[in-house]
Amino acid sequence: MPTFDEVVRDAETAPITGWDFSWLAGRATEERPSWGYTELLVPRVERVQSLLDVQTGGGEVLAEVLDRSTQVPARIAATESWAPNAALARAHLAEYDGDIAEIADDAEFPFSDTSFELVVSRHPVSTRWDEIARVLSAGGSYFAQHVGPGSNRELTDFLMGPQPVSKKRSPERAVADATAEGLELVDLRKATLRVEFFDVGGVIYFLRKVRWTVPGFTVEKYREQLARLHDQITAEGSFVSHARRFLVEFRSK
Ligand SMILES: C[S@@+](CC[C@H](N)C(=O)[O-])C[C@H]1O[C@@H](n2cnc3c(N)ncnc32)[C@H](O)[C@@H]1O
Repeated sequence: MPTFDEVVRDAETAPITGWDFSWLAGRATEERPSWGYTELLVPRVERVQSLLDVQTGGGEVLAEVLDRSTQVPARIAATESWAPNAALARAHLAEYDGDIAEIADDAEFPFSDTSFELVVSRHPVSTRWDEIARVLSAGGSYFAQHVGPGSNRELTDFLMGPQPVSKKRSPERAVADATAEGLELVDLRKATLRVEFFDVGGVIYFLRKVRWTVPGFTVEKYREQLARLHDQITAEGSFVSHARRFLVEFRSK
């Protein structure tokens, strides 16, 4: 068994660019939503000529969807706020002539009105419903998988003590905000998914990457709680938490 210090050292130095979680193989598992976001996205992508992926990360998910599509849109654009991920997204989407706009998560989109038939997003940090409504063409769709309220709150609470769950990420808020911008709800599905960590290194890596679970996380700041978590996982075999997701589809009138 590696010691706490060895596990910490590994997890602290593991690279976190991109949005690929393969480092967690053997260290943690996360149940997937039954609906299959990428499977549902492929036929939608095949039907349109213009596509925008908001907060594409390293472009991995979009590239996978495009690789699996029999027909790809003539125009493919994406936004990304974090420079290392924007560079990765440019590389991943180069073969599709992807136009990557490096803008803040809450910024206006540098695209003209009604210029996309399909706008998609997976796990956006924040959502500009006004901008989505503005760039969608009439009859166009927004199709996305969002992180729900209190996602992995067991992990947040273990490290930070009990925290209130903000309604900011609730599906009801998303529907209210989107419909206020003139979008019409087509589909809404919700899921609570089991997440299991088998070593504290997996927890550290996850918290470094999914930064909003414990805002301002550093190993140094939370060493005591991490050591306690390490002991708990060693005694019980794992630490269980729950991720929350919802799938939404809106149509532009
Ligand atoms: C949760 S990620 C999802 C990316 C992508 N849509 C996907 O599903 O793979 C959303 C955004 O978080 C931001 N992000 C991720 N890691 C970051 C980091 N270490 N520092 C700053 N921002 C980061 C990026 O702006 C990224 O687009």
